Amino acid sequence: MTEAKLEAWLEETRSFAPSAEFSKQANAQPSIYADAAADPVAWWRTQADRLAWTTAPTKSLEWDLPNAKWFSDGMLNASYTCVDRHVEAGNGDKVAYHWVADAEGEGRTITYGELQKLVAQAANALTELGVKEGDRVAVYMPMIPEAVVAMLAVVRLGAIHSVVFAGFSAEALSSRILDSDCQFVVTADGAFRRGTPSPLKPAVDEALESCPNVKAVLVVRRTGGEVKWNEGRDYWWHDVVERQSDEHTCKSFPSEQTMFIMYTSGTTAKPKGIYHTTGGYLTHVSATHEYIFDVKPETDVCWTAADIGWITGHSYIVYGPLINGVTQVMYEGLPDSGGKDRWWKIIAENKVTILYTAPTTIRTLMKWGHEWPQGHDLSSLRLLGTVGEPINPEAWMWYREYIGGGKCPIVDTWWQTETGGILITPLPGITATKPGAAMTPFPGIDADIVDNDGNSVGNGEGGYLVITAPWPGMTRGIYGDPERFKETYWSRFPGKYFAGDGAKRDDDGDIWLLGRIDDVMNISGHRLSTTEVEHALVGHPSVAEAAVVGASDETTGQAIVAFVTLKMSAEDASEDQVIVIEELRNHVAKVIGPIAKPRQIILTPELPKTRSGKIMRRLLRDVAENRSLGDVTTLMDPTVVNMIAGLMDSDADSEE
Ligand code: PRX
Repeated sequence: MTEAKLEAWLEETRSFAPSAEFSKQANAQPSIYADAAADPVAWWRTQADRLAWTTAPTKSLEWDLPNAKWFSDGMLNASYTCVDRHVEAGNGDKVAYHWVADAEGEGRTITYGELQKLVAQAANALTELGVKEGDRVAVYMPMIPEAVVAMLAVVRLGAIHSVVFAGFSAEALSSRILDSDCQFVVTADGAFRRGTPSPLKPAVDEALESCPNVKAVLVVRRTGGEVKWNEGRDYWWHDVVERQSDEHTCKSFPSEQTMFIMYTSGTTAKPKGIYHTTGGYLTHVSATHEYIFDVKPETDVCWTAADIGWITGHSYIVYGPLINGVTQVMYEGLPDSGGKDRWWKIIAENKVTILYTAPTTIRTLMKWGHEWPQGHDLSSLRLLGTVGEPINPEAWMWYREYIGGGKCPIVDTWWQTETGGILITPLPGITATKPGAAMTPFPGIDADIVDNDGNSVGNGEGGYLVITAPWPGMTRGIYGDPERFKETYWSRFPGKYFAGDGAKRDDDGDIWLLGRIDDVMNISGHRLSTTEVEHALVGHPSVAEAAVVGASDETTGQAIVAFVTLKMSAEDASEDQVIVIEELRNHVAKVIGPIAKPRQIILTPELPKTRSGKIMRRLLRDVAENRSLGDVTTLMDPTVVNMIAGLMDSDADSEE
């Protein structure tokens, strides 16, 4: 498709009907919606049969709002369900992961049989280090196979993993370790980024200075080189894991056993420990993976290009695909490690059939130009997916045309850390797709869009996205804070789960996600709260006050813009502005992680406040996005906001 044709195409709104050929062989057939709607709980119970239960559940849902239990009298082992049972079924030689390293030509292929042995050894090692059922284990790892092995080994023991994205800072890591009282950490000496080693262990050492309860740290050697060693606390993976027996007999645990915690940003400064349990979560991720990605375990090669430090990695790199017994690609590096066509080489070399990634990455790849993919054979691809933020139609079309060759269905999947798995999505072979729309709730999911009073909106109207009935993969709560769970998700519209997203129903009744309506920002598909970044900024000794907004950004979806007043006088500040701003950006990176570095910091003598002293972020967002200002009459001093707009303009000029 030429650029001109693409532009002409975008002028009209269109939908793509599934091809007859795809529909015929699709895992999901149209009757799936009616089957699930007839009795959603019973339908989910049949889906639970895909797990290797040692005691099959007789109960399905027990619902005492906001507390759900799914399949509560069933017993199983998550790691056995993901790995061992495939080996026992004779599929031990099937490839589980083609692990592709940051450096070209380096990598490793791991079969289900090998994975079983690695997990058994790791489970034995963790047992030797003292990990027991119910213990929390923090995993702070790059995208290497040992990260998956560690997760599976932890849940094999009935313990709970808390994977912390390796891009988070020492401070962010320690607060997560402390919040759920993790006594063990699995990490690596470092990670490779475009061929350069980037250390991880020093961040763990720094984090643990404030975490006295951590008894053991298991360290994978990935980059080599010197690391500081804490004798009696630190253990090399190759010393402790590799000498273990590769057999491990596992116990079964109740379906409602907590399996993992994943911290995510809410509207307060403190991230929430969202926890998930076993049977319902595994049922949900396995069913959604099978139907939405239409996976055929014999022939497909799935690549979820995400990090295991986020929920997408948990659900669609580890648990869903392993339960379904598919072959996957797991990639360590950045999209341009080794060149801007690295992704396309990986797809061609591994004959990837299903690619799942975030709009922000698609936009970056698009910016680099279609000549990069065009040099490679991408004909193996048969389905594309996106997740994490609304996808703009241009990026959707580019993905379809240049990556999918105009023939691959695209599934735009909406979900959250809290939902465990996908809730709103087209089903390939059934749903006609529209560029930019997530379309329709997955079978067995009841979603609605409501107005301020909680009433359903009609077609052509927008409102708040809510989920109106419990689903198996839903979080069971915020670790250690049941009240906050109820308050955050179940009180805005009593009886309904409030997702925090705005959405609209188009004239055909299809769902479009419009982004967060609360103080949560979405930066390159990463969730961060404005309050969290403000909190980091005011923690700096020179900062008096800070207000942070998410402003729309062509590549990253949203970008962080911070308005900061300093304690020092304006004259002093103006002399060193560039240095101060750089220091503040680095300070935020140190407190939270590099992903939280503001794109722009505007130093201002004042912030716009209402007469009652509340900072008016809405106006700051208007300023940051260069929009005409809304109502300023409630401001204590209406001139402040114009002054800030002026500062913003001069900042933009100085960047040009
Ligand atoms: O705002 C929605 C956005 O990402 C948020 C959830 O972020 P997180 O818990 O980090 O999980 C991301 C990966 C599942 C949602 O509240 N979001 C996620 N998927 C989409 C989306 N926004 C629009 N379209 C999507 N497909």
